[in-house]
Amino acid sequence: MRIALGVGGGIAAYKAAELARLLIQRGHQVQVIMTSGAQEFITPLTFATLTGRKTITGLFSNVSPEATLASAVEHIAVAQENDILLVAPATANIMSHFAHGLADDFLSTLYLAFTGPVVLAPAMNVNMWAHPATQANFETLTKRGHVLVAPPEGFLACGMTGPGRLAEPADIADAVERELNPVSDYADETVLITAGPTEEPVDPVRFLSNRSSGKMGYALAQEALNRGARVILISGPVALTAPRGVDLIQVRTAQEMHDAVFASLDGVTMVIKCAAVSDFQAASVPAEKMKKTTANFSMELEPTVDILAELGRAKGDWVLVGFAAETGNLEQEAKRKLAEKNCDMIVGNLVGTSTTGFGSDENEVVLVTKSGTTEVPRATKREVAERILTEALTLRHAS
Ligand SMILES: Cc1cc2nc3c(=O)[nH]c(=O)nc-3n(C[C@H](O)[C@H](O)[C@H](O)COP(=O)(O)O)c2cc1C
Repeated sequence: MRIALGVGGGIAAYKAAELARLLIQRGHQVQVIMTSGAQEFITPLTFATLTGRKTITGLFSNVSPEATLASAVEHIAVAQENDILLVAPATANIMSHFAHGLADDFLSTLYLAFTGPVVLAPAMNVNMWAHPATQANFETLTKRGHVLVAPPEGFLACGMTGPGRLAEPADIADAVERELNPVSDYADETVLITAGPTEEPVDPVRFLSNRSSGKMGYALAQEALNRGARVILISGPVALTAPRGVDLIQVRTAQEMHDAVFASLDGVTMVIKCAAVSDFQAASVPAEKMKKTTANFSMELEPTVDILAELGRAKGDWVLVGFAAETGNLEQEAKRKLAEKNCDMIVGNLVGTSTTGFGSDENEVVLVTKSGTTEVPRATKREVAERILTEALTLRHAS
């Protein structure tokens, strides 16, 4: 496929070189258009070398009295030749130009002339991203049907932490390919996904929790959404931006998660319990903060509500997928959980010793069903999510 890749003037412009290389590796032809801002950060030569094509650097840079029609109105030719317009990094300025229909450089003029799908991967300082003007532009562009690859949270070049980083090149390339080959095999599904940790209060300032970033659950939500599902995402406290278009319910404790799940089951065709729910809660929570002492002390804990087991008992005709994070005997434990909790599938992953899993962008899992075990080797959480959803849909069609 032919991809027009617009590169904006942000600090993440250098990552667009990696993205261009990746798209070419995946068999696409890439035509790069750099804004003048982008040229302050990285040279056109880098992209020309990687793509084997001249990098477009300006609206009037190719125009001369001898120009042919195609070279004179190059923005129209590029609009007609390409299957998709991708902008990465999309600066706040580019988003504003696109949202308002301004056309004062090659990229924004191309955008107005282009009739195909548009994918934008924004990257900017956290305050620029959160500004109501940027958020309003984001909203406008999303409503226009464009795909915005949401900027994940992280440490930013400006020294701040929060949403604003450019998404990983592989995730952007995936989003482009999904637009080029849309799959809508989940169009008839309503998927309820739980994600993240829960927090069980110990006193007004302390809580019991666990090491869950929520990334796996959010990747599942994004993937199900991309494949046409209606998605209800019930999330514990995480530092992630929920994919646009999900019905997000934010909870804190295991009990709140339980109540939200059981209040949302109407019309659901698949439940994926990806959250790392606390197994224990304090038997009683004092109204005042516990004072620090030098003496040892013990605390009485009681089990929290077992949401997965209750779902297994209540099971209607929806498919039930549970997760098992284990430190050993993975397959055995996953099989035990599958039978004990009356699930259709358990996604098992090893934690503690592995570099995948908690907090990482990658995972390595086994999918255990009544008919056997499938190993999913180390891959991005988006790729793992894709495999889980494909397997879960097979179970749904078989049920
Ligand atoms: C060092 C530096 C880093 C910048 N990084 C970003 C950024 O990551 N995202 C952004 O939206 N703007 C960033 N800007 C501001 C843009 O460069 C500026 O808004 C420019 O007009 C964007 O032009 P363009 O959208 O045509 O590329 C940065 C500016 C400087 C000087």
